[in-house]
Amino acid sequence: MPAIAIIGAQWGDEGKGKIVDLLAEKVNVVVRFSGGNNAGHTVVNQLGEFRMHLIPSGIFHPDVTCVIGNGVVIDPAAFLDEVESLRQHNVSTGNLFVSDRAHLIMPYHILLDGLEEEARGSGAIGTTRKGIGPAFADKTSRMGIRICDLLDKEAFRSRLSFVLEYKNSILTKLYGAAPLSLDKLYRDYCQYAERLAPYVRETDVILEEALEKGEWVLLEGAQGTMLDLDFGSYPYVTSAVAGGVSLGVGTSPANIKGVVGVLKAYTTRVGGGPMPTELHDECGDQMREGGHEYGTTTGRPRRCGWLDAVVARYSADINGFTSVAITKFDILDAFSSLKICTAYDIDGVIYNRPPAHSALFEKCKPVYEELPGWQCPTSNIRRFEELPSQAQAYVRRIEELIGCPASIISVGAAREQTIMVRPIP
Ligand code: IMP
Repeated sequence: MPAIAIIGAQWGDEGKGKIVDLLAEKVNVVVRFSGGNNAGHTVVNQLGEFRMHLIPSGIFHPDVTCVIGNGVVIDPAAFLDEVESLRQHNVSTGNLFVSDRAHLIMPYHILLDGLEEEARGSGAIGTTRKGIGPAFADKTSRMGIRICDLLDKEAFRSRLSFVLEYKNSILTKLYGAAPLSLDKLYRDYCQYAERLAPYVRETDVILEEALEKGEWVLLEGAQGTMLDLDFGSYPYVTSAVAGGVSLGVGTSPANIKGVVGVLKAYTTRVGGGPMPTELHDECGDQMREGGHEYGTTTGRPRRCGWLDAVVARYSADINGFTSVAITKFDILDAFSSLKICTAYDIDGVIYNRPPAHSALFEKCKPVYEELPGWQCPTSNIRRFEELPSQAQAYVRRIEELIGCPASIISVGAAREQTIMVRPIP
């Protein structure tokens, strides 16, 4: 049986947590493959409302094995806090495993994330300041410390003293900040190591064995395509597209049989960078308030705007979406008419894909097409045919514009507030 990837089609916060929680009912393994605790997945189920940052949203299904793959960067304190809060709600973490190859977020990553943001001034990325970017940078520049390093105390101390000397030079000489104490950092992380150890595994083997047994595996993306390091609105980026999945978990791309894009029925973005359909008017406010568009991780108000089908089509192409799950559909119930951006215009030149250069992307003016709204509640609807004709037309138009069918329409935060349009993938 296949592995299915769940990928954000926009700038993150598309509602992947709910979709994973929903599909986890049918699968055996759920794996996170990218990002870190910058992600924020809100899951509402019979146990309560949960804000997940690191742990896969499949954790609420006791029979599902949950894996944090090697492609995720791990802040051990954040991980252990999340485990603790799940335990307090009687959610078992007995089936939760973390890759021994995953890189650690260290306190200097968090400090440097803040200092680098300050140094960027008006060009600040608007990061979550959780140390994600600096941890990924260290991974690439071979200065990272991995979970397997942490579990060998002697090797960890020697690696940490080498890396910390270098980091302390940057902190003190470049930024005039105070250095970090080797002894304290070593002690703190040794304590984390003891609590982390029971969760640590060669997680690629777990995945391989599951696939060999014919089990279903869900690969849970964090953030969204437009925040991808290569294909997003660089430098206002962070994470990975579907192509990064196999690297982030350690499986062959040939094992991935379906890619479900999670597409919010409108657009949001948190942090800096281009967003052509952003609204600074009442409609934008209505989306923000109706959709509770405030960051799960930082609480920042999200920038809101009409659906950008240029971004959605680009995401569908880059990721090879086999279907899309359209989320927060009910938030559009209130609008008398809806706009969809079908192309960009820069000084009379039409663009059908987001330009690579963010300065050019900033100049893009949306070319809109207007569709009638349905102005009636959809949250209690469970079949596509029962949606008002205008709502059906909105979905059909999205499918046409992005060249891929809708499999799920989410009409509310709860699991049951879902319209299954066609089977996954
Ligand atoms: P970082 O991941 O903290 O380095 O932030 C880089 C950019 O990605 C910033 O614009 C963040 O707001 C954005 N970002 C990071 N995680 C998320 C997320 O889960 N949802 C939406 N935006 C995110």
